Amino acid sequence: MIITVQQHLLQQQRNVSEATGRFTWLMHGITLATKMVESKIRSAGLTNILGAYGETNVQGEQQQKLDVYANQALLHCLGLAEGVAALVSEEDANPITVDLNPDNGKYLVVFDPLDGSSNIDVNVNVGTIFSVLRRPEGTEANVGDVANWALQPGYKQVAAGYVLYGPSTILVYTAGNGVFGFTLDPSVGAFVLTNEKMCMPEQGPYYSTNEGNAHDWPEVYREYIRRITSGALGQPYGGRYIGSLVADFHRTLHKGGVFLYPPTKKTPGGKLRLLYEANPLAFIAEQAGGMAVTETGRILDIEPTSIHQRTPFVVGSMVEVKAFKDLVAEMG
Ligand code: AHG
Ligand code: MN
Ligand code: MN
Ligand code: MN
Repeated sequence: MIITVQQHLLQQQRNVSEATGRFTWLMHGITLATKMVESKIRSAGLTNILGAYGETNVQGEQQQKLDVYANQALLHCLGLAEGVAALVSEEDANPITVDLNPDNGKYLVVFDPLDGSSNIDVNVNVGTIFSVLRRPEGTEANVGDVANWALQPGYKQVAAGYVLYGPSTILVYTAGNGVFGFTLDPSVGAFVLTNEKMCMPEQGPYYSTNEGNAHDWPEVYREYIRRITSGALGQPYGGRYIGSLVADFHRTLHKGGVFLYPPTKKTPGGKLRLLYEANPLAFIAEQAGGMAVTETGRILDIEPTSIHQRTPFVVGSMVEVKAFKDLVAEMG
């Protein structure tokens, strides 16, 4: 018998005290928006949804039409959801306020509406990443404060997840009680539970990184790749790089191994964004038995200073990420 994500959340609500109806409604907003995105993606070549939108976003990136559509779908669906105080999106410079009344607006949703934009036009997997934060206690309904509400370290996340639009469309999320996987059943139009407890293998067969930037990395990253590909961890490694973070992460979650986006001269603070790329995936990785770090510490401990800040990102299986941390310590 199928269990939809709504039924699953109601079950979770029963045995997770602070999970309220508002959280379930918020998740409904996310699943509805991602089903709208999924439907657009499936007909992309037949409708005028591919290619550049013609504007540059706050990241300095050329927005793709699907970036804009996915962003609008999430803003619309979450804007109608009970319990949402404000939204932070990769595509918007400032937070979007929904309901700042302290009695209603309990959550912030932070998201990357369409991850892997460079892959849209070549029909390669893309995704949506989201993170749910609690509105800080005692905050007044002051629009000027909303951006600061989102500046919480990743260990404070209420929930985090992603949707991967691939051969099948899957939703993976955690609310701190393990990692659950759902698959969109097009015949029902619902995400149905297909993995009750996703665990990352202790070690895996792949390393995943854009080696085109290797000349620009800090030396410790080059030495790390040299060592693991020459057997330092007791096995050979294959290289796999899709260029959509969600797809590279999902493979790492399933098969094990390590994904790295090191600092480069062009992005000395790292390319990936902390609040809506690194933090949600780090939360999932840790809940699945993996790890997520930078050279200086745990991703989830980083105290954010701005909503679009970037971070170096090393995420994956215990064995590979520990080996990275040991090498950082060794090289000092
Ligand atoms: P986004 O499409 O949301 O802007 O994210 C793109 C990110 C991420 O998906 C991926 O891991 C990374 O950019 C790829 O960067 P490179 O093309 O520099 O390897
Ligand atoms: Mn982007
Ligand atoms: Mn992204
Ligand atoms: Mn994006």
